[in-house]
Amino acid sequence: MGRGTGYGKTIVFGEHFVVYGLPAIASAITGSTVAVARRVSGHSYSIEDKRPETPGYKEKKKEQQLDSIKRIFEFLGFDPKENAVEILLEGNLVAASGVGASAASCAAIARALNEEFSLGLEDEEINKAAYEGEKGYHGTPSGIDNTAAVYGGLIWFKKGLPGKENTIQRVKIEPVEIVLGNTGITSNTSEVVADVRKKKEANEREFDKIFRDYGKIAESALGAFRENDVESVGKLMNENHSLLQKIGVSCKELEELVETAREQGAVGAKLTGTGRGGLMIALTPGKELQEKVAEAIEATGKTAFRTKIG
Ligand code: PMV
Repeated sequence: MGRGTGYGKTIVFGEHFVVYGLPAIASAITGSTVAVARRVSGHSYSIEDKRPETPGYKEKKKEQQLDSIKRIFEFLGFDPKENAVEILLEGNLVAASGVGASAASCAAIARALNEEFSLGLEDEEINKAAYEGEKGYHGTPSGIDNTAAVYGGLIWFKKGLPGKENTIQRVKIEPVEIVLGNTGITSNTSEVVADVRKKKEANEREFDKIFRDYGKIAESALGAFRENDVESVGKLMNENHSLLQKIGVSCKELEELVETAREQGAVGAKLTGTGRGGLMIALTPGKELQEKVAEAIEATGKTAFRTKIG
């Protein structure tokens, strides 16, 4: 039997801006998906998915999951007709939009196969296999999710220009508590990204200024993380959120979550990921503050995940 793990992720800075080549900062979160691969007799594979989920998520992604697994097999040169295998997915990462669930499962599956069939792969190749698997879900993934899923920790990420490699730098920090508040609304990434592009094309000068402001925020955030200056990171998250409002990707439900978190003393709060639904991230150093913010969100009838970045 082979076991493998992949972490979930959250985007701390730079969603949407990353699409245009500006740097983003993402982190693995403590929730993870575990895959168990077991050699069996026969000439095919089977998958049993026992991950906890946002209702409907797994059914909706079923076809993409099968495509993804096929791509991982191909990348690894693994043929289930010769090596029949049973794959089980479990772990405490809730399969939902915005937490990197697909990348976490790809990393976990590649690792479990690596162990069960002694493929001798290092993390770098596991990461490439997970990236191939991500294509089954995303088409053209940026690579940030699978990197966070494989290596864990905090990541500075810059998308390469067409034909160029992405820049990925790992940043060591003291892990710090966060709360992810869930609007309960599943947003459509490609639709929201397309809307932002339209708005940008209609308002080039305004967007140039917003992009410049964001660039400064990203640089300052990297410095603040390096110095473990949590207060500054929080202020910069708030500033990043204001820019996300300007480009039109927040919504009433996200604003309510941000407001609740800030009222309860979160040092920073912003939407994370696609926006117009999905998740809010609040920086809440210390168990006590984390609990206070999470409980306040739950009191409004929304769900809250308590986890850590770094
Ligand atoms: O909603 P998520 O966690 O999949 O993040 C989407 C991030 C975007 O910047 C909006 C899109 C992208 O491809 O980077």
